[in-house]
Amino acid sequence: MSDPVSILNDRLLDALRAAFGAALPEGATPALAASKDAKFGDFQSNAAMGLAKSVGKPPREVAALIKQHADPLLSDVAEPLEIAGPGFLNVRLKATALAGALAAMDTAALGLAAPEPAARMTVVVDLCGVNLAKQMHVGHLRATVIGDALARIWERLGHDVVRQNHFGDWGLPIAMVTAAVKSGAERGTLDLSTLTLEQLERIYRRAQRESDADEAGLAAARRFGLGPKALAELEAQVSGARAHAEEAQAALRALQAQDPAYVAVWRRICDITLEACFAICRRLRANVTSEATAGESSYAGELGAVVADLEGRGVAELSEGALVVRLDELGIKEPCIIRKSAGGYLYATTDLAAIRRRVGRIGAARVMYAVDARQSLHFKQVFAAAKKAGYTARKDLPGEDAVLLHAAFGTVLGEDGRPFKTRSGENVRLSDLLDEAVVRAEAAVAVKNPDLPMDERRSIAEAVGMSAIKYADLSTDRIKDYVFSFDRMLAFEGNTGPYLLYALVRVRSIFRKAREQFGVDEASLEGAGAPAFAVAAPEEKAVALQLLRYPATLRAAAETCEPHRLCAYLYDLAGAFSSFFASCPVLQAPDEPTRGARLRLTRLTGRVLKDGLEALGLVPLERM
Ligand code: ARG
Repeated sequence: MSDPVSILNDRLLDALRAAFGAALPEGATPALAASKDAKFGDFQSNAAMGLAKSVGKPPREVAALIKQHADPLLSDVAEPLEIAGPGFLNVRLKATALAGALAAMDTAALGLAAPEPAARMTVVVDLCGVNLAKQMHVGHLRATVIGDALARIWERLGHDVVRQNHFGDWGLPIAMVTAAVKSGAERGTLDLSTLTLEQLERIYRRAQRESDADEAGLAAARRFGLGPKALAELEAQVSGARAHAEEAQAALRALQAQDPAYVAVWRRICDITLEACFAICRRLRANVTSEATAGESSYAGELGAVVADLEGRGVAELSEGALVVRLDELGIKEPCIIRKSAGGYLYATTDLAAIRRRVGRIGAARVMYAVDARQSLHFKQVFAAAKKAGYTARKDLPGEDAVLLHAAFGTVLGEDGRPFKTRSGENVRLSDLLDEAVVRAEAAVAVKNPDLPMDERRSIAEAVGMSAIKYADLSTDRIKDYVFSFDRMLAFEGNTGPYLLYALVRVRSIFRKAREQFGVDEASLEGAGAPAFAVAAPEEKAVALQLLRYPATLRAAAETCEPHRLCAYLYDLAGAFSSFFASCPVLQAPDEPTRGARLRLTRLTGRVLKDGLEALGLVPLERM
């Protein structure tokens, strides 16, 4: 027995078909929902009311007919259905069926009842997406944490996951920084070997300012005759900026031609940026490494071929000098521009090449992009253009297209409800946020458990801080904006990372006590000699039902690219467990079989909590 809900649904649907045959309207379902009150059973179906009209019988009669066909089909999993009120069907699962399902789930081999997928796929997750010479900020937190959680969930389901960090390391602005760094190094004003990301960021900003010609200001000064001094200043600014812009163009040509002097500087800048990025990812326990990094530059050599291919096959056409893929027929007004009229490729061109490589070469059946929602139009265009170009055609399944999904996320807001910025209006550096989370977590842990040795407190604080930040990000519906609040995310109550870590810690401590007081070894709770599951009290049943929903929840979170479904699930599981623990004594159970059964339920809860936390990329703890 897998998820009882899906079994009940399947069998009730069979019963509806048997009862009504051709009279059953297309798309009719058993409309099964969890009962609000245990006295109405575990689940309720209101199918009879929905069907009464189309089958031309009063609802209670319809219910009786369903019951007549359903009871024999359900006999191994549920008690005979109960008809209530206007025609509700109350479903009560058999305690033996629940115990059997739990036992089937609680085996090492089955891996918590998420068996090998029917068709193992290669799944690409586009995540992180940092940019050269820039620090990671809160936007990258989302791209990294959501992307990594999706990757973990798909891995957990047994698929082959390839992470791709689409590092922004190519194009004119990058050539501009490269030129600035190179000339600084040549003039001796900076030292390449000790250069830091902070310095790089400053150089980037200055270079941007310097190459930004105030042409409008100069024109206005001329038009309004602003006087020789203002005019001279503006002329100097504009000609300086033009020179910088030309220098950047020259650097871009040099990089494209693989000029070793430029490439060496550029590579150094890449290394500095990525080193900092990987350090943050390690800290966040997000699996983003150099193997997972395929920068925009890695596609530079393929763009010419992609564009020639699209032009040659007539997929792209010229429009006012630019080369575009028209998408009108796919319902998208804005064409996807792949070459500017002045020549030069775009962000979209690179993403087309990336899809070609990911589906064609890496063999992806599915590509998911954890990227800001503000890039929605971009992905809509690129996905449509890729499909039109045939770049989504799966090699392993002729006739099938790979599924491309933009797992778009909203903006991180400050407490004022506006995009999260520092007081001076700058992006908040991710590393600063992580540091602050850990400092605050350490204070909270010190209060909660003052006896912890210093170094353990440190490492617990690190885990709690990271989990708090990650969980706050993962637990909101990703498309929504959310307010970044340390106080909220670090609370030990409510739907937070620390609360869930703590729920697991409580389970762990029950086992420490079980060993101390009764000499119960956890290993004795698995395998042939393990005590049997028994599901009697309503609180036990609630935990059991929630546990059995785990595989379906994982699959739903994977399919929809919505890790928050898994968060909500774990939060509910922790809540159900807490009610169970409050009303069903485990260690003080009335007899040994009950204690054994409750310990097993506790253990399975712990296994699922830990597995779920790991699937989200959080850090389970033994104590805190
Ligand atoms: N570097 C980009 C940015 O900061 C994100 C890259 C997202 N991935 C992609 N395949 N376009 O906006």
